[in-house]
Amino acid sequence: MLVLGIETSCDETAAAVVDDGRHVLADMVRSQLADHAPYGGIVPEIAARAHIDALDRLIAAALDEAGVGFADLDGIAATGGPGLIGGVIVGVMTAKGIAAARGLPFMAVNHLEGHALTARLTHGVDFPYLLLLVSGGHCQLLIVEGVGHYRRLGTTIDDAVGEAFDKVAKMMGLGYPGGPAVERAAGAATDPARFPLPRPMKGRPGCDFSFSGLKTAVRHAIEALPPGPLGTADMADLSAAFQQAVGEAITDRTRHAIAAFRARHPKGDTLVVAGGVAANAHLRSVLEGLAAADGLRFIAPPQRLCTDNGAMIAWAGIERLRLGLTDTMDFAPRPRWPLDPTAPRAAFAGVKA
Ligand code: KG4
Ligand code: ZN
Repeated sequence: MLVLGIETSCDETAAAVVDDGRHVLADMVRSQLADHAPYGGIVPEIAARAHIDALDRLIAAALDEAGVGFADLDGIAATGGPGLIGGVIVGVMTAKGIAAARGLPFMAVNHLEGHALTARLTHGVDFPYLLLLVSGGHCQLLIVEGVGHYRRLGTTIDDAVGEAFDKVAKMMGLGYPGGPAVERAAGAATDPARFPLPRPMKGRPGCDFSFSGLKTAVRHAIEALPPGPLGTADMADLSAAFQQAVGEAITDRTRHAIAAFRARHPKGDTLVVAGGVAANAHLRSVLEGLAAADGLRFIAPPQRLCTDNGAMIAWAGIERLRLGLTDTMDFAPRPRWPLDPTAPRAAFAGVKA
């Protein structure tokens, strides 16, 4: 079974060809970073236009690299949401067009399900498992019980963790995307302890996250330094202090989630981390420690399959196609699409889907 996957929900145009033997035959990603750089953030209209410009050539290149044609495919999957709606429409319409022209099944994939099922593509993990999904738009703890079956244990009440990395990097003048820049800067730290930062939500019951207070604390720490651009040593220590605070906050929340996971699935034995922030080595190492202490197997997909990509969409498409979960041409792209629609909203307004 061979599926083409298309991802256009944010600022990466991606197309990939994957088979049901868990082989990624092609995985092409075109970043729009340069298109948005002059504006200091992602401009949705520019993103949608850039997806239109890039997508058909990227699909052709992915098929070429995989050495297959449309006639070899068993289905077309595209991210159907959540995300920037202009971009999602570009991907969905393209996928529907190919599916209609070739008489192939079409699968509208939830972008979060793409991240959630990646560990099954890379490591063949069985259900159920505990998932920490940490990206630029989301920060959630979920029990993955099956394709389409998710139980959300917690989410952020304000910013996503990747968003916090990006904003803190901007405050320090480190550029976008902030996560890799903060991680790089933190590598040169000598004394992170001189910036005491809060560990948001630590010690509170439940599994919800909060990062906006931590972001404000970083701003206050910067304001308390002598005026002018930050020195390299300040930048390094502050980045490391921020990373440590994030690591401790996430570890605390995940510890509660492990207890909830174990209560529901006493034989459950795996913790998976996914999403762009899962590329962070400090976070990986503290989570690995937490999992080991609790007797859980820890799985983090390789970095390029943690950030947005088409292979995860193609794989989720395969999982859905195998179960007969295809979509019709009536599918409407969704700006918001929670994985667990029954989950209670987090405690405060402004919560992400
Ligand atoms: O999953 P992703 O590629 O896109 C979304 O669906 O949001 O995640 C992008 C986010 C950005 O906020 C970026 O700063 C963050 O992941 N990120 C990192 C690292 N690499 C990417 N955060 C911390 N450390 C990293 N090494
Ligand atoms: Zn993502």
